[in-house]
Amino acid sequence: MSTPLKFAYWVPNVSGGLVTSTIEQRTDWGIDYNRRLAQTAERVGFEYALSQVRYMASYGADHQHESTSFSLALLLATEKLKVIAAVHPGLWHPGVLAKWIATADHLSGGRAAVNVVSGWFKQEFTALGEPWLEHDERYRRSAEFIRALREIWTSDQAELRGDFYRIHDFDLKPKPVDVPGRPHPEIFQGGNSTAARRNGGQVADWYFSNGKDYDGFTEQVLEVGAHAAEAGRTVRFGLNGFVIARDTEKEAREQLREIVAKANRPAVEGFRDAVQQAGSSTGDKRGMWADSTFEDLVQYNDGFRTQLIGTPEQIADRAIEYKRRGADLLLLGFLHFQEEIEYFGEKVLPIIREKEAALEPALVN
Ligand SMILES: Cc1cc2nc3c(=O)[nH]c(=O)nc-3n(C[C@H](O)[C@H](O)[C@H](O)COP(=O)(O)O)c2cc1C
Repeated sequence: MSTPLKFAYWVPNVSGGLVTSTIEQRTDWGIDYNRRLAQTAERVGFEYALSQVRYMASYGADHQHESTSFSLALLLATEKLKVIAAVHPGLWHPGVLAKWIATADHLSGGRAAVNVVSGWFKQEFTALGEPWLEHDERYRRSAEFIRALREIWTSDQAELRGDFYRIHDFDLKPKPVDVPGRPHPEIFQGGNSTAARRNGGQVADWYFSNGKDYDGFTEQVLEVGAHAAEAGRTVRFGLNGFVIARDTEKEAREQLREIVAKANRPAVEGFRDAVQQAGSSTGDKRGMWADSTFEDLVQYNDGFRTQLIGTPEQIADRAIEYKRRGADLLLLGFLHFQEEIEYFGEKVLPIIREKEAALEPALVN
């Protein structure tokens, strides 16, 4: 039997929700709302939650809670959910983070995970007086950071002589929880650029893709998978998508139209300028968001492109097709998180599970 498709949701720990729109949103970025949301999510079948890291106001997002501490609060409020904390290598030492995650892992019975983000928001670094490295250097540093985490979590005498970090005879005690089938807390890394794909294949456990249509996703799976194969390893794939599930397709499409019609234009344009400078600084211009349209950017991570928009049946069909193309996990965002995660769990997930079961004989042949 193939592994069932896994589901993660974006933790709304940043104000303004996941769309840069003036549309009414009932999502709240505070802790009470988020604790309830995490409990609902694990109850209806979500296995992971991904928190966001943002240190200061940016486009359409004025307030934000810190990622690692917020993730720990959610771990303590739940029983099964794995919570992925996002961190910037330029702002953390890998030894400090390895220790932090090991403790969170013990406090949660082995449910802590990490998303290593290389960053796009230059002002965040300059405001904190930290250097903003050139794009591919940021990824070289991230690769070293991930190697350091793995070394510290699995070795009694961790050693690493890198260009960015040096670790010598470091013995982390206690090591993270011994969870069967998990050599250490899971390490996620996302992106689109050539450097991001290389890191994804060479060092990450999981590669997160921004929203993509079928062919765009397949293209990434092949390229990142080839990097992994070359390094003699495997990597799993998570794909971002913004879900608008409604009883009729017409209602879902109308909801999308309204989100985009009410876009906060100056914020979307400011975001576009910031992310496109971050990505276009790569030689081959393949950075994330390099070809995003205005409409795509109303959802921070191109989530509309995955087109999880329509009736539960339509969404389930798309989810299954992405699974066939190599998705191990769907990372989902919603307009009104609390009620829509519940709707997704009750109406969409059972159909996905039925279709997965029906797929089995085809997969065997
Ligand atoms: C699923 C996912 C989650 C991300 N979360 C964050 C985040 O919380 N904070 C952040 O600054 N960047 C985040 N990023 C952005 C990455 O740090 C990076 O800037 C982006 O992937 C651009 O990479 P590229 O242009 O090299 O492809 C995220 C990216 C993905 C795909």
